[in-house]
Amino acid sequence: MNLLPSGICFYLSVAIGWLTAEVDASWWYMGTLGSQVMCDNIPGLVNRQRQLCRQNPRVMQAIGAGMKDWISECQHQFRNHRWNCTATAREQLFGRLLLRSSREVAFMYAISSAGVVYTLARACSQGDLDSCSCDPTKTGSSRDSRGSFDWGGCSDHVEHAVRFSQGFVDAKERKQRDGRALMNLHNNRAGRKAVRRFMSLECKCHGVSGSCSVRTCWLAMADFRLTGDHLKKRYRGAVQVNVNQDGTGFTHTHTHFKRPSKNDLVYFEDSPDYCVRDHESGWMGTGGRQCNRTSRGADGCEVLCCGRGYDTSRVSRTTQCECKFHWCCDVICRDCEETIDLNTCKGHT
Ligand SMILES: *[C@@H]1O[C@H](CO)[C@@H](O)[C@H](O)[C@H]1NC(C)=O
Ligand SMILES: *[C@@H]1O[C@H](CO)[C@@H](O)[C@H](O)[C@H]1NC(C)=O
Repeated sequence: MNLLPSGICFYLSVAIGWLTAEVDASWWYMGTLGSQVMCDNIPGLVNRQRQLCRQNPRVMQAIGAGMKDWISECQHQFRNHRWNCTATAREQLFGRLLLRSSREVAFMYAISSAGVVYTLARACSQGDLDSCSCDPTKTGSSRDSRGSFDWGGCSDHVEHAVRFSQGFVDAKERKQRDGRALMNLHNNRAGRKAVRRFMSLECKCHGVSGSCSVRTCWLAMADFRLTGDHLKKRYRGAVQVNVNQDGTGFTHTHTHFKRPSKNDLVYFEDSPDYCVRDHESGWMGTGGRQCNRTSRGADGCEVLCCGRGYDTSRVSRTTQCECKFHWCCDVICRDCEETIDLNTCKGHT
């Protein structure tokens, strides 16, 4: 099974996530057969990762189960782009050809690494794991701009999740020690930082008649959508870099551009245009994708279909309409037929 090259198939999310998540998440529950079997069957892990996997089978299962969430976040963020964050099995195997060291790859690493942190911290808070729970340092009292408060409830233990993610996710890149590994490490870290950025203090008021003279607060992660939105912004502003001469850091390709910060995504190579079908990598091209005739953005037919044109088909669908409220308490609607035009990109001839 160990066919996966180090290319885009980094640790496990990219290695099998994109492959199996839509098919069957239960793959992961092979864990019941024993962590040895499970960990030995995850393709593309380096020794350190296999070791961590065997030591923490429940953590691995939690991460595997969370994978579909960050993949669907990635697909949401790219739903209107030519590259829509899907990958076929073949693309997994030969993905390096298609995706190169592009900014799409930068995004994939960042959101996967963020996803591991998010999933793990949430599993800890929910009491799903023996190895962690709520943040134990959030006890006693503290202050914020509104005054003092008592720690209470369950603060998400993001630091623990970040440490595990660093140890596990980065292990592969630490072994490779090439330019590509530097790029991946940088983007992994930017992803983890993005989750931290959206931690916020949530409080409950106590005291006479809601006076809020006493507050209990906990530190909570925000919805993962915020992390996705943020990383998408970083994707747009990603910085193209080269590896410096001693191979320890980056120099930017265009000297008039800004130096990448730790929060920026970095990439080496320009993206392919993703227009055409690529047999070698299994990329489907954009033929058959739905596009928007009036949009001037990336989802517009002109851009999405790469100038090949599009087919329009008239489809009718039934919707609920003329809904009326009847006392009490029914809403009664009529079924209305509605015809809409569906535009789909032409494929290659
Ligand atoms: C992504 O695009 C491919 C073809 O370009 C299509 O087959 C696939 O259904 C799309 N996936 C999503 C999630 O939209
Ligand atoms: C198509 O694009 C236009 C202009 O951006 C937008 O107003 C409209 O809602 C879009 N239609 C669909 C079906 O997304």
